[in-house]
Amino acid sequence: MDKIKRRTFLKTSLVGSVAAIFTNSSHAEMSTPSEMQGPFYPITPQKDQDADLTKVAGKTGTAQGKVIEVFGQVLDQALNPIEDVSIDLWQANSFGRYHHPHDTNEAPLDENFQAWAILQSGAEGRYRFKTIIPGAYPISSSRQRTPHIHFKISKKGYESLLTQMYFPNQELNDQDVLFNRKSAEQQAMMTAKKSDNSNIYQYNIIIDKL
Ligand SMILES: [Fe+2]
Repeated sequence: MDKIKRRTFLKTSLVGSVAAIFTNSSHAEMSTPSEMQGPFYPITPQKDQDADLTKVAGKTGTAQGKVIEVFGQVLDQALNPIEDVSIDLWQANSFGRYHHPHDTNEAPLDENFQAWAILQSGAEGRYRFKTIIPGAYPISSSRQRTPHIHFKISKKGYESLLTQMYFPNQELNDQDVLFNRKSAEQQAMMTAKKSDNSNIYQYNIIIDKL
């Protein structure tokens, strides 16, 4: 290697390793990307807001659709768990219809689906809820939103986070307008992890201190 080539080589590898260190440390500390709230944040008062969205208090039926559980931890950017975080979540039913008066989708309502929950993170920032896989829904004549769950995370002393959780291996993820505005790294952070042959998804949420 001549002198100039060698100098260039050293320079490139130094930049490469600094970039690698930076990428690793920033990955560990990157907070969950935010996403728009969307038009269907619940506005109809609802007494039952517990962690089982497949049942509605006072009704005997069960929500239609594929039952799943979602669990995770709420963490700060140093990956310390945060307790007593308010986790407000809402989603479409299995047909892709929101329990919201402004949803004009003609898909059926499901009176046995709770659609909205407000939970608190407990010990070690942990949370868990039972629900169904939300249906996709049309946003125009040619486009659909891929299945997702909306989250609003708040805790005194931290920045509030509005985001959407996606599901792995969903065909429509590739065509989803909002999902595809995110980088691959952001998409990975917004997509729940599923263990094989289970209906259990893990979704950790990282929020910023104020
Ligand atoms: Fe939505």
